[in-house]
Amino acid sequence: MHKDVSYILLSGEQIAKRTSEIASQITKDYYGQEVLMVGILRGAVLFFSELVKKVDLDLRMDFMSVSSYGASMTSTGEIKINKDLSQPIEGLNVIIVEDIIDTGHTLKNLLKLLNTRNPKSIKICSLLDKPSRREVDLKGDYVGFEVPNEFVVGYGLDYQEKYRNLPDVCVLKKSIYASCPDEDYD
Ligand code: IMP
Ligand code: MG
Repeated sequence: MHKDVSYILLSGEQIAKRTSEIASQITKDYYGQEVLMVGILRGAVLFFSELVKKVDLDLRMDFMSVSSYGASMTSTGEIKINKDLSQPIEGLNVIIVEDIIDTGHTLKNLLKLLNTRNPKSIKICSLLDKPSRREVDLKGDYVGFEVPNEFVVGYGLDYQEKYRNLPDVCVLKKSIYASCPDEDYD
């Protein structure tokens, strides 16, 4: 275990098992249809690559990188697009794949933006969900695990860009993240 983490919350094996279940559900729900899976960079990359291998559908992949402007500005519905999709989504079934739903601002704003592009449907698939932190009304359609109000890293999730490569989702030691700047999350 990495010296900066206090314990493993979800092992790579648990995540792989749950990812297979979600992939089966997606395969069933979209039977006979095409989907565009959109991975949100960078946190969702590990979950995304595990998931798409297990979804048995004709699918396309694309990626986006976004950041919220911070709590004071999110009520205006603004997000910053660091990298946009490389194709139009009009008429497509879109599944947004994210690492974690925390306050919900990022995904709420992203949904609002993508809905203006007239997709056939949009759903949210998130590896983790921290419902106790929610500030807006937003629910994931496919959720891997509910997690307690702890700062987690690993399996794609970072603290100041570190720990993304850890094979498990771990709770970071409090001494490492003494003050956690919300606007730094991505
Ligand atoms: P939001 O608060 O739902 O808008 O989440 C914004 C982003 O914050 C997520 O996509 C994550 O990248 C990041 N984030 C939220 N909670 C955690 C955490 O516990 N560990 C690492 N990143 C987090
Ligand atoms: Mg993220």
